[in-house]
Amino acid sequence: MDGCHVANVTVIGAQWGDEGKGKIVDWLASRADAVVRFQGGHNAGHTLVVGDTTYKLSLLPSGIVTGTLSIIGNGVVLDPWALKAEIEKLEGQGVTISDDNFAIADNCPLILPLHRDLDGLRETAAGSGKIGTTGRGIGPAYEDKVGRRAIRVCDLAHLDALEPQLDRLCAHHDALRAGFDQPPVDREALLDELREIAPFVLQYAQPVWKRLKKVRKAGARVLFEGAQGVLLDVDHGTYPFVTSSNTVSGAAAAGSGLGPGSTGFVLGIVKAYTTRVGSGPFPTELNDEVGQRLGENGHEFGTVTGRKRRCGWFDAVLVRQSCAISGVTGIALTKLDVLDGFEKVKICTGYRLNGKIMDYFPSHAADQAAVEPIYEEMDGWQETTAGARSWADLPAQAIKYVQRVQELIETPVALISTSPEREDTILVRDPFVD
Ligand code: IMP
Repeated sequence: MDGCHVANVTVIGAQWGDEGKGKIVDWLASRADAVVRFQGGHNAGHTLVVGDTTYKLSLLPSGIVTGTLSIIGNGVVLDPWALKAEIEKLEGQGVTISDDNFAIADNCPLILPLHRDLDGLRETAAGSGKIGTTGRGIGPAYEDKVGRRAIRVCDLAHLDALEPQLDRLCAHHDALRAGFDQPPVDREALLDELREIAPFVLQYAQPVWKRLKKVRKAGARVLFEGAQGVLLDVDHGTYPFVTSSNTVSGAAAAGSGLGPGSTGFVLGIVKAYTTRVGSGPFPTELNDEVGQRLGENGHEFGTVTGRKRRCGWFDAVLVRQSCAISGVTGIALTKLDVLDGFEKVKICTGYRLNGKIMDYFPSHAADQAAVEPIYEEMDGWQETTAGARSWADLPAQAIKYVQRVQELIETPVALISTSPEREDTILVRDPFVD
């Protein structure tokens, strides 16, 4: 560990995102001293319901709503204009955001309009082979970071010296744009836009590793808020149908500037069934009325893009793999109530591939697309689980389902979330307490 005895918590999605992280993070954020985003960008979509108010967050850490110190770490790619719009919207809802409760890593790479352009151009050109990205420029921005030509938050304080960096960036992008019959980047317009937005971003910019070091020394509890899910991880996910960052818990340390021991309790958020937005393999996908019903009951439409999510039964093989890869200490099971009223429910316990039984998800895209799920069927439950706040509130069959899930994924359940409301949560083990 990192020398501190107060537990930190790292929240990650253990499927393809949209597991209901927003509510869990919000619930934990109310007891944390700092909330840190460490990867992704405004491709994420978190919905928080507090009392009568619904907040929609994409880029800002969920702690912002509770007034908890909220930090955007260096592992995030930051669209300054999206940031400004989101801050203004939240301020309009009465949320206070200042440099007291909000900080952005000054070494965070920026998403520029040219990244959004390229994301869109590539997706359109790919036709049916498209990734199905959120169109926010996430992939191209990460490419420029790794290609060492990104413009970063700290550069906004030195725009007069930006020419050499712009040369490098534009040489790369102009060549790509030419391939799509697009005009070169308008450098003057880009510089003007950056000049205009710079003071807004810079008021929050600082070396956040230093701020985090200070709050950790003071014994603060840090909550690391992951975006997307392990199956969208650029290394471990369903490559190439993934996002462009590491979504696993290990990214929390590198993406914020704290050591690997600081991630603490890793809470994997797991939906009681499976969904996916965008293209790519999905072994338990249901293209029938059961899938339709899961989508309707679960309101499965993307927060960011409004796209309809693909739905299917719970896949224990995938979640077991995610939990292992991310070192998940315990899971939060969400949206159990979506399964209320089904006569029978199914869980995928293995795959069949070319006549062989497999207990893991293979790496090759063709194999991932070809695996056939092997199901275990259980009786469903007719009572509602919505709003349950203790095990005793759950129907016996629902308890059996949860127990079977934790057995198959070889990871204990720490929390069960039974509605979007903060208080509708069954706490089995408090992640903040060692
Ligand atoms: P990108 O992150 O916009 O590049 O999109 C890459 C893939 O990740 C696509 O399949 C998106 O649908 C998916 N994705 C990105 N962010 C989210 C999210 O927050 N929830 C679910 N899927 C996401």
